Amino acid sequence: MRILVMHGPNLDMLGKREPEVYGHETINSINQRILEAADAAGVEAECFQSNDEGTLVSRLWQAVGTCDGVIFNPAAYTHTSVALHDAIKGCGLPCVEVHLSNTHRREAFRHVSLTAGACIGQIMGFGATGYLLALQGLVDYLKGGRA
Ligand code: DQA
Repeated sequence: MRILVMHGPNLDMLGKREPEVYGHETINSINQRILEAADAAGVEAECFQSNDEGTLVSRLWQAVGTCDGVIFNPAAYTHTSVALHDAIKGCGLPCVEVHLSNTHRREAFRHVSLTAGACIGQIMGFGATGYLLALQGLVDYLKGGRA
């Protein structure tokens, strides 16, 4: 089983970027924790980050046939991207949306997700732990068809 983990725009700046909101952990450290958790669960994981909407759309489609599921923090594109909604839906891969922060406690423009409706589930507000919770949920879903 192979899982694609995708991080959207500005998440390469974790650690430097608004640490009071997103914490001090870097994306490399988060990816390391995801890879270790995947290893412990007996699955393969691959981590990818892009600041570009089209690149994220293309990476999703490239996962068809090589990956079984996707964990995705679309970051700001969550609130704007019909293209990413369509790619998640169209590629047919089960996807879990993750947000480090609880977007419902923040500005009103973050309260709507255009991408969540194309996903099997969404986890937010638990910082980097959310990726590990998503991994557990996605692997359970892929093994047992739950969620
Ligand atoms: C985020 C929340 C988004 O609103 C924001 O644009 C991000 C990060 C999160 O992980 O909390 O870049 O996706």
